[in-house]
Amino acid sequence: MTSSLRVLITAGPTREHLDPVRFLSNGSSGKMGYALAEVAVAHGWTVDLVSGPVALPSPSGVQVTRVVSAQEMFAASEPLFARCDIFIAVAAVADYRPKFRATEKTKKAGGGLTLELEPTIDILKTLAARKTPKQTIVGFAAETQNVEAYAQRKLVEKNLDWIVANDVSRAGIGMDAEDNAVVLLARNGGREVYGPAPKRAVAEFILNRILA
Ligand code: CTP
Repeated sequence: MTSSLRVLITAGPTREHLDPVRFLSNGSSGKMGYALAEVAVAHGWTVDLVSGPVALPSPSGVQVTRVVSAQEMFAASEPLFARCDIFIAVAAVADYRPKFRATEKTKKAGGGLTLELEPTIDILKTLAARKTPKQTIVGFAAETQNVEAYAQRKLVEKNLDWIVANDVSRAGIGMDAEDNAVVLLARNGGREVYGPAPKRAVAEFILNRILA
């Protein structure tokens, strides 16, 4: 029954370049998103993975599009979103980018440096606003405090069906780690806790709950 499902996953960090060699980014490894892609393929789903720069190989059976910036991640995801049944936004998208990008490597010029930043596009919020009744949308919330309250707010503000709240304040769990511990919140008020466990097991848990 579920074999015809099409899932779109964003994963990894984005990089917002200041010049050809420097960028703003974060420590996302992509492991949670790639684990979800692998488990979704194992379920027999058709999987599109739009990935920021990570050190992971493409999972077999997954159509991977590699991107660098938030704008590129959005451009790659937009057409895939239109035909997906489930969208899972795992990517740690940079929220700001330098307002100006130098074409050549910037030379240092004594004293400090102030960067002017502008917001990047919110990929999840933009696409979720186009959600059809048949689509299911899952977000992640990486937080270091008030984890569930902030996640709950994102669930509503971004028009999601589910959000996976992720406490990223503990070493060894969550971002750039092998294991994860999550609280899965549903739009209808459901709440389930899972982990700490390997990201593959967390991915199984999330997809099983979404399907149930
Ligand atoms: N997200 C996105 N595009 C962005 C920012 C976030 O698609 N520009 C998605 C992430 O993939 C995740 C969810 O939105 O599924 C929440 O991301 P998170 O970084 O936790 O929160 P932000 O929306 O960036 O808010 P804040 O940084 O204020 O916590």
